[in-house]
Amino acid sequence: MREKLAQILTRDVLIFLAVALPLLALVGYYQLRLNKISAELADSGSRITGLEHSVSDLHTLLQSTAGNLSDIISSEEAKNASLHNQFSAITDTVDTLQKLSTIDPELLKKYSKVYFLNENYVPLSLSDIDPEFVSKNSTNHQFLSDALPFLENLFRAAGDDGMSLLAQSAYRSFNTQSALKSTYKVNYGAGTANSFSADQGYSEHQLGTALDFTTAKLAGGLDGFDKTPEYQWLLDNAYKYGFVISYPKGNSFYVFEPWHWRFVGVALATKLHDDNMYFYDMDQRTIDTYLANLFDQ
Ligand code: DAL
Ligand code: ZN
Repeated sequence: MREKLAQILTRDVLIFLAVALPLLALVGYYQLRLNKISAELADSGSRITGLEHSVSDLHTLLQSTAGNLSDIISSEEAKNASLHNQFSAITDTVDTLQKLSTIDPELLKKYSKVYFLNENYVPLSLSDIDPEFVSKNSTNHQFLSDALPFLENLFRAAGDDGMSLLAQSAYRSFNTQSALKSTYKVNYGAGTANSFSADQGYSEHQLGTALDFTTAKLAGGLDGFDKTPEYQWLLDNAYKYGFVISYPKGNSFYVFEPWHWRFVGVALATKLHDDNMYFYDMDQRTIDTYLANLFDQ
């Protein structure tokens, strides 16, 4: 019986060993494979981490390069803009100098007992005012050629508004002014003559840019001009054509001369109009800054 049991046990152990040993070998084999694979995975993981660092470094490098490039571009753009501004400023200065070289600097000086034009001074070029705008008995109906279009535009605009403005006395030479002043002195005495008539050399009329207006109704007369709608029209509109009144009420040079207007350019006339100022109240240095643009529309 005991022998029989030992036989059975030996057989079962042998069967068990026959089954278990290959299984153990298989498990061992797969365990080794698994270890190898996980070692390979760990290795790949660390290589991926290394690659990620490289990519991140590259990204940082690219960002800093892009930042530098953008700084360089901005700085070049700023340099270009500054050069462009300098170029524009130089071009403007050259333009201004070119204009100034062709514009008579006397045209914006204060010729009322301040500056003096000698007998040789004649305007650069004079032209006849269109007879349509000249009073019948006028003997001085020339105007500075460059300023004439402004004056004729003024006459046309006044006409369009129903005014009958006319030129009574425009350009007067040194000698014409001298003769006129002598006549006034004889007729009214020196004191009175000096209150309304400039000595030769001191009259704005010698510049070719000043004129005395009259109306058809006044027929060449000057008295009463301040009561006319034409005078009011000039006060409201003359600046648009570059004209200002030279001797308003209370001026320190002559009696009130509502008829006597002077071309000073649209920019300066507009400035004086807007600031409610008169030409002779403005500093000569400030006035001179308008010279280059005297004939600009
Ligand atoms: N009547 C002005 C002042 C002139 O003679 O110029
Ligand atoms: Zn005058």
